[in-house]
Amino acid sequence: MTLRVTIPIDAAALAVGAGQVASAISAAAARQKVAIEIVRTGSRGLYWLEPLVEVETPAGRVAYGPVAPHDAESLVAALRVDGGHKLRLGLTEDIPWLKRQTRLTFARCGIVDPRSLADYRAHDGGKGLERALSLGADAIVEQVVQSGLRGRGGAGFPTGIKWRTVAQTKAEQKYIVCNADEGDSGTFADRMIMEGDPFVLIEGMAIAGFATGATKGYVYIRSEYPHAVAAMEAAIGAARQGGLLGNRIGGSSFGFDMEVRVGAGAYVCGEETSLLDSLEGKRGLVRAKPPLPAHKGLFGLPTVINNVLSFASVPIIMDKGGAFYRDFGMGKSRGTMPIQLAGNIKHGGLFETAFGMTLGELVDEVGGGTRSGRPVRAVQVGGPLGAYFPRALFDTPFDYEAFAARDGLIGHGGIVVFDDTVDMAKQARFAMEFCAIESCGKCTPCRVGSTRGMEVIDHIIRGENRTANTVLLEDLCNTLKFGSLCALGGFTPYPVMSALTHFPEDFGAPPRLQAAE
Ligand SMILES: Cc1cc2nc3c(=O)[nH]c(=O)nc-3n(C[C@H](O)[C@H](O)[C@H](O)COP(=O)(O)O)c2cc1C
Ligand code: SF4
Repeated sequence: MTLRVTIPIDAAALAVGAGQVASAISAAAARQKVAIEIVRTGSRGLYWLEPLVEVETPAGRVAYGPVAPHDAESLVAALRVDGGHKLRLGLTEDIPWLKRQTRLTFARCGIVDPRSLADYRAHDGGKGLERALSLGADAIVEQVVQSGLRGRGGAGFPTGIKWRTVAQTKAEQKYIVCNADEGDSGTFADRMIMEGDPFVLIEGMAIAGFATGATKGYVYIRSEYPHAVAAMEAAIGAARQGGLLGNRIGGSSFGFDMEVRVGAGAYVCGEETSLLDSLEGKRGLVRAKPPLPAHKGLFGLPTVINNVLSFASVPIIMDKGGAFYRDFGMGKSRGTMPIQLAGNIKHGGLFETAFGMTLGELVDEVGGGTRSGRPVRAVQVGGPLGAYFPRALFDTPFDYEAFAARDGLIGHGGIVVFDDTVDMAKQARFAMEFCAIESCGKCTPCRVGSTRGMEVIDHIIRGENRTANTVLLEDLCNTLKFGSLCALGGFTPYPVMSALTHFPEDFGAPPRLQAAE
């Protein structure tokens, strides 16, 4: 009997030795004369357990982790007998961290072979496109509107409305662009999808093409993601061969093809109009809106631009219906969100759940607190432009509106945890420095204001005219917030002001009373 063993090929797993583990297990199996088939999958997203090795059994997959190359010999020996081993975690699906999740977008990630279209189809892949083709363009858009899906890239704009705008705009040629720049700190969900389930993204983009009348797509991937680039290119090739891309998809008259484009590495190239400039071969510079990309996007033509997770959520919406998806979540935040737990956290990784869990549940219960074992002092939610939340705000539910009501944002779903050794004045200064480095330079509040912001925070840290400089910093933040052309300048005040408001003692002021939070 051949043992089927899965080992992630995901970049994070590779970084902690998954490649060496695969080689060591293969060599150990040869030495012990055990017939073994190693399948390289994406990651399950339990990053503290990587490299996570799974073995197929009649009861389901059994997990072992974290496995080091020197564990290979004893692991293979154990698999020959009863599978008992010190690293055995039981059935993967029963691991509480995974069991507590609702995996819709990530349903196949870590399970399927990302290089096999046949495996994708064997796990319900392709059903969304099939149903979409039978529904017709208008009905697809209505289903996406009904699902309540909002853009997962950060701004949370309703995806169906964007698609409707493009569908209703007349043009000879339209485009589908996937934003896979994933520049937010502590985020990796786009990368995981591209490396672990690339066909779901291709399927989502093809559905968008059919719904809006676009025949060509581009995936714009950051250059720091070489594994994702390779996985997407391989999957696009396989999709062309297997009829998921090309002419007459699924026997219809619809044709759609796509290509990968690699960015040169600038945070601002994740901003949609800057990304379009970059795709056109220019320096990434933010464009003034209007016109919206839906009217005049890539090469001046109507363009749907969505995040990886937005597209990857569409196949299941098509397959199960908009109402199915809408039934998850709270308020105007419908469906599930792939939340990424990172920073100083015990159990970091990908946790997909319906909107509505509180920040405290996510950080303390799911994340298990800090990796250092020290108290959690602050978390930054939503990337480098997101606010720092103190423990006093841990009752905030993960929901677009609830975060906005507390001067925060959920962005792309990244949560970065800091323990009590963090210096929040330095974090505030870093936010201004980041803005200064990454600014595209088109508008003055951001280009000049970020450098002035660093200087003012330096004065405050040194205790020079602290009161006057704090007022000046607030004033400067308001100028950035209301005078910037895009959210890079417009949201940099969020981390700065939240640090100042919730952690004034780090700026030399008396501590804020908890009751006042
Ligand atoms: C400075 C800046 C960086 C951004 N970076 C990204 C990014 O890396 N990925 C992304 O999907 N959206 C990013 N966005 C948001 C995009 O402008 C845009 O809202 C998104 O691609 C639309 O897709 P969605 O509706 O599916 O979220 C960024 C925005 C700004 C202002
Ligand atoms: S806010 Fe900054 S990044 Fe955005 S357009 Fe203005 S200068 Fe460019």
